Amino acid sequence: MSKFKVYITRQIPEAGLALLRERFDVSINPDDRPLTRSELLTNIAEADGVLCLLTDKIDAEVFDTAKKARGFANYAVGYDNMDVAEATKRKIPLSNTPDVLTNATAEMAWALLFSAARRVVESDRVMRSGAWKGWGPLQFIGQDVTGATLGIIGAGRIGRAFAMKSRGFDMNVVYTDEYPCTELEEKLGARKVSLEELLSTSDFISIHVPLMPSTRHLIDEKALRMMKPTAVLINTSRGPVIDENALVKALKEGIIAAAGLDVYENEPKAAEGLADLPNVVMTPHTASATFDSRNGMAVKAATNLIAMVEGRRPPDCINPQIYSS
Ligand code: GLV
Ligand code: GLV
Repeated sequence: MSKFKVYITRQIPEAGLALLRERFDVSINPDDRPLTRSELLTNIAEADGVLCLLTDKIDAEVFDTAKKARGFANYAVGYDNMDVAEATKRKIPLSNTPDVLTNATAEMAWALLFSAARRVVESDRVMRSGAWKGWGPLQFIGQDVTGATLGIIGAGRIGRAFAMKSRGFDMNVVYTDEYPCTELEEKLGARKVSLEELLSTSDFISIHVPLMPSTRHLIDEKALRMMKPTAVLINTSRGPVIDENALVKALKEGIIAAAGLDVYENEPKAAEGLADLPNVVMTPHTASATFDSRNGMAVKAATNLIAMVEGRRPPDCINPQIYSS
């Protein structure tokens, strides 16, 4: 029997590639950049399965083109790049990579929180430029973290992990979510509050919701205006959850104090003016970029793809309803 063909839209860690190579004919985008749309469509046309990235739009046109594909394994936990409803209608399974990147992402949110609160990057620039003239009582004053109020928007896996790591800092934790979170309430004394209350009372606000129609621009000009002028906003979820132009304005005008961002509304670009502001710390969508996390994602994506190509339900199925009835 000839082997199944799988296509990988960009090089991923070897741990995942090895699993796929043991079983399948594997082709990979040889270049270290996202495929163009036409390259994607051409390269997946004969594939029995596709391992794709958050930078690949997986939609009806892709499903029409990759007629033999028995499944699409996203190398990410977020899957707003995939048209889940369309795949489900066609009974095509989709998978993601939850859990393995939870701590890495939560840790990056803390890195951004501290960097923004204590002006680490801004200070680093002054040191490197040679402009520092010696210690001064009024230099680079920032926000206290210990004892502050921490607002978590979205108490899913990553939001919860982020919140639990606040234990060393004795924080007052509030959160929003569809459901109450017993873990946070019992272990941290956290309170579930309305978004309005969270925005108006938190010193630090960290976003952990997936991107969906209901969360697009959840943080808009009105929401930013509800925050304290000393508030620090952190986003490691998806860029479009924040109206980035409104954020630039809020940071410029002192509506809020600072922001720490790992994700952007129109990646790889940042909104006009964002990069000129001293009170924002920016990383290039690298929250899951630790060795363990990226290897774990590679193994998960490969394991899911193997299951789908071989006709089994993948462990991290996004649309398990296709298997019922
Ligand atoms: C990265 O952003 C992911 O969703 O895994
Ligand atoms: C994503 O993994 C989340 O549930 O936060």
